Amino acid sequence: MKNNGNTIEKLVSLSKRRGYIFQSSEIYGGLNGCWDYGPMGVELLNNIKKEWWNSMTLRDDIEGLDSSILMHPKVWEASGHVDNFTDPMIDCKQCKARFRVDLLGGMLNEKRKKKSMKALLENCKDENIKNKIEEISANKNEAEIFNIIIDDNDLSVLLLNELNCPQCGTKSSFTSARQFNLMFKTFLGPVEDTGSAIFLRPETAQGIFVNFLNVQNSTRQKLPFGIAQIGKAFRNEINTKNFLYRTREFEQMEMQFFVKPADDKKWFNNWKGERINWFKNLGMNSDNLRLQNHPENKLAHYAKEATDIEYNFPFGWGEIEGIHNRTDFDLKRHEEYSGKSLKYFDEETKEKTLPFIIETSAGASRSFMAFLTEAYDEEEVKGEQRVVLRLHKKLAPIKASILPLVNKDGMPEIAKKIEDDLRFKFKIFYDDKGAVGRRYRRQDEIGTPFAITVDTQTLEDQTVTVRERDSMEQIRIPSENLSSFLLEKLSN
Ligand code: GAP
Repeated sequence: MKNNGNTIEKLVSLSKRRGYIFQSSEIYGGLNGCWDYGPMGVELLNNIKKEWWNSMTLRDDIEGLDSSILMHPKVWEASGHVDNFTDPMIDCKQCKARFRVDLLGGMLNEKRKKKSMKALLENCKDENIKNKIEEISANKNEAEIFNIIIDDNDLSVLLLNELNCPQCGTKSSFTSARQFNLMFKTFLGPVEDTGSAIFLRPETAQGIFVNFLNVQNSTRQKLPFGIAQIGKAFRNEINTKNFLYRTREFEQMEMQFFVKPADDKKWFNNWKGERINWFKNLGMNSDNLRLQNHPENKLAHYAKEATDIEYNFPFGWGEIEGIHNRTDFDLKRHEEYSGKSLKYFDEETKEKTLPFIIETSAGASRSFMAFLTEAYDEEEVKGEQRVVLRLHKKLAPIKASILPLVNKDGMPEIAKKIEDDLRFKFKIFYDDKGAVGRRYRRQDEIGTPFAITVDTQTLEDQTVTVRERDSMEQIRIPSENLSSFLLEKLSN
């Protein structure tokens, strides 16, 4: 990826042009925070999910699961989502628009860049804020003071009153901060009352926890073992942003690994290594990946230890996967709220225990955006700009294109025969429209690793050219060898 500031706009534009991603309900003006995967997008997304699924379930110690999106409302009380899955929000008293406190904090930061913090505080009429800030700012520089203020909800709201409302422009008109739950609510059955209210799941993990013993009993797995699941999750994010990065509907690829409590550290470290290697093995440059440990005071309510795998997006580093040691928090809470035992019976020691859980939780949609960003490249070829998606061959939506040089002299017939031979083995694309150079460029933008061209020489000796996407080098091979050639190249 060459990041020249407007890479996201370029990705959005290429995605629409080539059928990767469309805005949801576009003809109605779009639906904020929701995106549709087009013909190329769905192939890439499926390939990412397939690689993840295989990396998990082709092991003998991980089982698969597909639990329902709608779950008993008590699940979300037990998980802590009803109480803790919230964002602090403030409203403009004038126009009633609602904002996340940290979003306005970002605006305040922009203002701070133009005006110094000192000048900003001088304007502040509230003596209480000034005093409190003076107290905390001894021996600290401006940026440090700013971060303390923004991390403190009450303080930041007071200071935010220095800002004009981004919606209506009124000054000093914000309410105090209130917590808003991010779960989408709906109703089960025809009656819309509080008794029938349920939530769309905000994570797939809980379906795994409540099925822990069902899976263990039916597969007779012994600790340590894992359960993997891919599925949609929904969060009523207040601030959707950066294309697919933060959306309201998205897909997760989660694996919960159940271990003996004494082995938690070992497995936490093991999964950190496994997961970052998975991204690298699918073509991500190590320089664009990093592990970020959560400081103790920022850990989620269920976690003892946590690390994020972050990707270097055009807008900066952002989490693509979270790895948590969730201890026995979830199983214990589900025991408490359901009244059912979720203890594991150890046949050897004849003891019952609640296992600890090491969670690997990747966003399929967010990984999609990271793989797309990583693959995007622009270069100059013979005085012309070439846009190319250098996707890993296993992820590329289309593996090979088949191009008759011209639409006559028997070339289309041979090309069609090649298409028939390959169609059920690889995802291929037949293209006979326009000059061959233009057709190559189209496939480069889609990320197709190989282009097979039928030309005049094919008519004489049944050989074809195979052009490789990244190097643009061409070789000639007998057309009858195409299937084994592609098989070898794509599996390497
Ligand atoms: N079960 C743990 C869990 O859900 P999380 O850090 O909230 O943890 C895990 O989410 C992953 O899900 C993130 O690393 C990210 O890839 C993805 N994700 C979370 N919220 C998202 C959103 N609003 N849009 C897209 N992906 C999201």
